[in-house]
Amino acid sequence: MKLKISPKDKLQGKIKVPGDKSISHRAVMLGSLAEGKTEIEGFLTGEDCLSTVKAFQDLGVKIEGVGTENMLVHGVGLHGLKEADNVLDLGNSGTTTRLMLGILSGQDFYTVVTGDDSLRTRPMDRVTVPLSKMGGSFYGRDGANLLPISVLGGSDLKGITYNSPVASAQVKSSLLLAGLYAEGETEVIEPAKSRDHTERMLEYFGADIEVDGLKVKVEANPKLTAKKIVVPGDISSAAFLMVAAMITENSEIIIENVGVNPTRDGVIEALRKMNGNFELLNKREVNGEPIADIKVKNSQLKGTIIDGDLIPLLIDEIPILAVAASQADGKTIIKDAKELRVKETDRIDAMVKELTRLGIEVQEREDGMEIIGKQEIKGGVVCQSYHDHRIAMSLAVAGLISEDDIEIENSDCINISFPNFKKILDRL
Ligand code: S3P
Repeated sequence: MKLKISPKDKLQGKIKVPGDKSISHRAVMLGSLAEGKTEIEGFLTGEDCLSTVKAFQDLGVKIEGVGTENMLVHGVGLHGLKEADNVLDLGNSGTTTRLMLGILSGQDFYTVVTGDDSLRTRPMDRVTVPLSKMGGSFYGRDGANLLPISVLGGSDLKGITYNSPVASAQVKSSLLLAGLYAEGETEVIEPAKSRDHTERMLEYFGADIEVDGLKVKVEANPKLTAKKIVVPGDISSAAFLMVAAMITENSEIIIENVGVNPTRDGVIEALRKMNGNFELLNKREVNGEPIADIKVKNSQLKGTIIDGDLIPLLIDEIPILAVAASQADGKTIIKDAKELRVKETDRIDAMVKELTRLGIEVQEREDGMEIIGKQEIKGGVVCQSYHDHRIAMSLAVAGLISEDDIEIENSDCINISFPNFKKILDRL
């Protein structure tokens, strides 16, 4: 589907964004492995999270309310999953795949996992290598790096200490989940802090987990007890609307109920450095996760440097920050973000090409990009989404301030993480 975006003269109103994608995945995973029934409120019904739901159903878990925001997961306990009778198709979801490979390596049955054209190009050796050290057996293309991958789990996993070369919550979480099935302790040490939803939720469900700076350690064989989970709004989705309101004249919006976990709020720090006009209201906490309402106004943005340890805290927000940078006075440098090259698409290449198409001066770096602001967006062009939800939505936001309409090819991918994105934009 082609999405047409017309320029707007203001954005105004109060809205809620859909549930957090990372927390929604983990709620189904831990709810399945817990004993008892886990009620989930505010679940993200985007395609990625539905891939997680389908996979656990295929592994024998009963889940009620599928397709809605309120679900009930009938936990089967740590050792209650059953061998699926077909290949698990995980669609576009890297999070499902990498976390699942950790869980599957602790099951004494055989599973094959695969995914769509994008997922089948994404590196899995970042988890299959350390999980093999713990005793998991993986077979797949390119030395068990590329899907389809088959897993022969076992009951003889051993805990390890792993110094991860990448700051990746998916790698960390995969090992911690395998660690639930291993003998002894499993410890992961990251080079920089990545999102910690797995640690928070494991603790909330009763696992024995210890966090010390960049080190996380989990004890094997915990009793996980079902608990209600209220999923906060996804800050990664809110970021598109924050930038939209900042760059569109005469705007003032409130985004209610947004997760502002400090391992996810890099976009808030970056936009603050860029002179964004916003405030966090009503700070509170639900099931171990901080949330707030965010009030955002049209802003006179300025260029900045986004790099180092800030990168993992805003890794999914870089495409939309690049759009913000195009409307900021001065140069913005984004570096140390090589991980963007192995996301749903190569997001550096995609943003450089599409911003250039929109007439914005941008230079590609191996690990990021440099954007010169403030530039006008002429529009009147057809952009490519690269089948990547965050690229499609970033370009849509650019369209709000272009002179003429812009169109975005293959925009269906927006359903991966933000199914009502266009409706919300229209309503504001
Ligand atoms: C996620 C972790 C991030 C992020 C992805 C979701 C998660 O990936 O990009 O959208 O839920 O754990 P990495 O941790 O691999 O960078």
